[in-house]
Amino acid sequence: MTGRPPALSLTHGAPATRVLGLGSTQPDRVVTNHDLAARMDTDDQWIRDRVGIVERRFADEDEQVVDMAVTAGAKALADAGVAPADVDTVIVPNCTMPAPIPNAAAQVADRIGVRAAGAFDLNAACAGFCYGLGIASDLIRSGSAGQVLVIGAEKLTDVVDPDDRSTAIIFADGAGAALVGPATDAGVGPVAWGSAGDLVDMIYMRENRYIFQEGQSVFRWATTQVAPVAMRAAELAGVELSDVDVLIPHQANLRIVEAIAKRLRAKGAREDMVVADDIRYSGNTSSASIPLALDHMRAAGTVDSGDVVLAVGFGAGLSYAAQILICP
Ligand code: COA
Repeated sequence: MTGRPPALSLTHGAPATRVLGLGSTQPDRVVTNHDLAARMDTDDQWIRDRVGIVERRFADEDEQVVDMAVTAGAKALADAGVAPADVDTVIVPNCTMPAPIPNAAAQVADRIGVRAAGAFDLNAACAGFCYGLGIASDLIRSGSAGQVLVIGAEKLTDVVDPDDRSTAIIFADGAGAALVGPATDAGVGPVAWGSAGDLVDMIYMRENRYIFQEGQSVFRWATTQVAPVAMRAAELAGVELSDVDVLIPHQANLRIVEAIAKRLRAKGAREDMVVADDIRYSGNTSSASIPLALDHMRAAGTVDSGDVVLAVGFGAGLSYAAQILICP
């Protein structure tokens, strides 16, 4: 090297980012609690009371993670009115691809028509969407990417023992997507993230096949440790909890969702803050659950464009992440 290295240009980045469009999809097959009770020792009332789920959607054999991701991603582009040619990066948070190679993102990009995309999967389990949104936003702000499609997509029925009543009643399939692009006013706040690898044994794949979880331990951890992560995300974005219009915790269990909301209200969140309960009809779809809930709530009119949304994901790892976003 001779002399000083050249000054690198960092002028291509955007001052801020926004979510420009949303999309989601679920399999057609509805599975009720009664359907599950016909197969295992459980009942509708127990599942409603302890988990909050009324029904969920299961994919058929020929409907894969990639298929659901393509549908959700294409809908997010259509919602934003953005052509695939104007997207350069595709991130697919998931933990249920059939094998580590190939990843989902490159195939998804190709099928949607995003040519030569930067494309990668990201595994932070049920925190995956918030991790992906944070990375997408920072890629755009640094100038590395222009517009980024983030698609949480999961086929949990591939990794759940259909006869294990501690998991089969909870997990389900689906995909949710957000298109993130440059903006002058911030619409995505900094991500507050972290992990607790010492608690890895609480949720893992037993013998590389089926999900095992220590239900009560996960429940205790989530109801005590997740609300502070959400509060940190609000703080990083310079938002008071009383400014939050909509809370979307990962849809793991309705009682966990309500416990997080209760803690945030005790710290200043409004009583009329809308709290996502999409788990009731979608089940736990891991990295898809937050964008799926947001898209459903917007379609139902419970969330409006411009609303301040606080999203917080958490799950295996243990991993967690949260951020503020403005609803498109
Ligand atoms: N149907 C009917 N009864 C069930 C049942 C089911 N599916 N699962 C457990 N039970 C029974 C148990 O056998 C037990 O009976 P007993 O009191 O006669 O021994 C009783 O219900 C309570 O069991 P417990 O394991 O304490 O239930 P729980 O209230 O903790 O609920 C979970 C179990 C899994 C629903 C709950 O712990 C949970 O949701 N944890 C969080 C898991 C999670 O969110 N995972 C994803 C993270 S991303």
